[in-house]
Amino acid sequence: MEQGADSAAARRMARVASHLRPPTSQEEEEVAILKGSNCRAKGAAPGFKVAVLGASGGIGQPLSLLMKMNPLVSVLHLYDVVNTPGVTADISHMNTGAVVRGFLGQPQLESALTGMDLVIIPAGIPRKPGMTRDDLFNINAGIVRTLCGGIAKCCPNAIVNVISNPVNSTVPIAAEVFKKAGTYDPKRLLGVTTLDVVRANTFVGEVLGLDPRDVNVPVVGGHAGVTILPLLSQVNPPCSFTSEEISYLTSRIQNGGTEVVEAKAGAGSATLSMAYAAARFADACLRGLRGDAGIVECSYIASQVTELAFFASKVRLGRAGVEEVLPLGPLNEFERAGLEKAKGELAESIRKGVAFANK
Ligand SMILES: NC(=O)c1ccc[n+]([C@@H]2O[C@H](COP(=O)([O-])OP(=O)(O)OC[C@H]3O[C@@H](n4cnc5c(N)ncnc54)[C@H](O)[C@@H]3O)[C@@H](O)[C@H]2O)c1
Repeated sequence: MEQGADSAAARRMARVASHLRPPTSQEEEEVAILKGSNCRAKGAAPGFKVAVLGASGGIGQPLSLLMKMNPLVSVLHLYDVVNTPGVTADISHMNTGAVVRGFLGQPQLESALTGMDLVIIPAGIPRKPGMTRDDLFNINAGIVRTLCGGIAKCCPNAIVNVISNPVNSTVPIAAEVFKKAGTYDPKRLLGVTTLDVVRANTFVGEVLGLDPRDVNVPVVGGHAGVTILPLLSQVNPPCSFTSEEISYLTSRIQNGGTEVVEAKAGAGSATLSMAYAAARFADACLRGLRGDAGIVECSYIASQVTELAFFASKVRLGRAGVEEVLPLGPLNEFERAGLEKAKGELAESIRKGVAFANK
């Protein structure tokens, strides 16, 4: 009798501790952990299962915090190659609904991914002053390839949000990995360019004297230098700018990342505003999955809007991921010239990503 009570207590303790240390396969049966077939979260807290890969990083930590605060999330898996026990212990003390579990290192990648509805990837190295996003290519390309291999195997139906730079190449790499695994669905692979939109809304709000929450600037193309193309002729609420304002705003939006890299002087790139932007985008994806209507965000995706295989533009999100790619709308002469420049650079970044994945 006493022995039975002891083992019940031990099981209870194992369940309580399972968020810090993933259970072994034997414990797994006992604590009825997530199974791949059981994709949507069921039980007490309704909601979605979300994994953050690179959760201990400059973006990963505040992003994990914000996802723990999102009421649509019932299970939050934090994966990294370092420090996840600490980050997980810390975040798990927040009295919000999501259950948090930590996973450390490659051997635990599959457990981290199994059954996820949404996987967010901020893993990789960030820029230092003087570096372009393309300088990160070799290391981050390999990281994204490995992580996407895990996704193809363990949660092939998940929506994937790619943050790791250079996004213009890492999204095509992810697509190639999924194609090879036979799991590719272009509707579910989304490059996160929301920070460009967030910056554009802020800077345009400053120039117009408006609350940035009331401003909506479409930013299309890609996520690096001249490929970032703010469509200032389509700002909502409708407004007009002088040519000085247009060149100031375009340049500041395109170089917003470099502004932060230089201000941080060697300590990394945008992390806090990026975590905010990624959390906003992930929330939009989850609301789409839930079936909410009218969810529109800009994202870098497989596209037929131009002749390029990938392009960032406004998309409508829904239960299947990207449900509609919205047209670019009318561009003025300045924007048409910007588009031509952006396309040249994007074509090369896409080619480089595809070549890396097929090496
Ligand atoms: N899309 C955007 O708008 C945008 C904006 C800013 C930064 N970024 C990019 O996001 C990435 C992360 O930036 P950061 O500032 O958080 O960097 P960081 O170095 O602070 O954090 C990266 C994290 O990734 C982890 N990591 C490395 N290899 C891994 C692997 N194989 N599996 C899992 N995790 C791994 C590291 O341990 C680290 O914790 C960089 O590539 C950066 O350029 C993108």
